[in-house]
Amino acid sequence: MDNFEPAIIAFVCNWCTYTAADLAGTSRLSYPKNVRLIRVMCTGMVDPQYVIKAFLEGADGVLISGCHPGDCHYINGNYKARRRVKLLKEILPRFGIDSRRLRLTWIGASDGIEFAHVMGDLVARTRELGPMLPDLKMVI
Ligand code: FES
Repeated sequence: MDNFEPAIIAFVCNWCTYTAADLAGTSRLSYPKNVRLIRVMCTGMVDPQYVIKAFLEGADGVLISGCHPGDCHYINGNYKARRRVKLLKEILPRFGIDSRRLRLTWIGASDGIEFAHVMGDLVARTRELGPMLPDLKMVI
């Protein structure tokens, strides 16, 4: 398990976290290559099915990240995301998925350093949880 490299899917809002990722890149900040970003216009459009599908198709961890509360460009999309993540964390164990594999963060557009830090932390914590698929196969 020492060389386990988790696969992480990150749904990131176009206006904040994606912009922070861009800033991290242009600032030449390094962050783990394990994270695959999926740009969405707002975290409020991340359907819970997207998260479950990501896990079922092999993600070891999923991140949803967007604008800070009060900064959503669609007024309340991030509040919807927060409610959905709360529900998903209750539902995921029924699929045999540890709810710690799902994380929600707010990273503003100017937070390139924060973005790089969160990605590193996310990968480290998911690495500690180990690969997910062996557990999942027992449920399926
Ligand atoms: S526009 Fe960023 S979370 Fe809604």
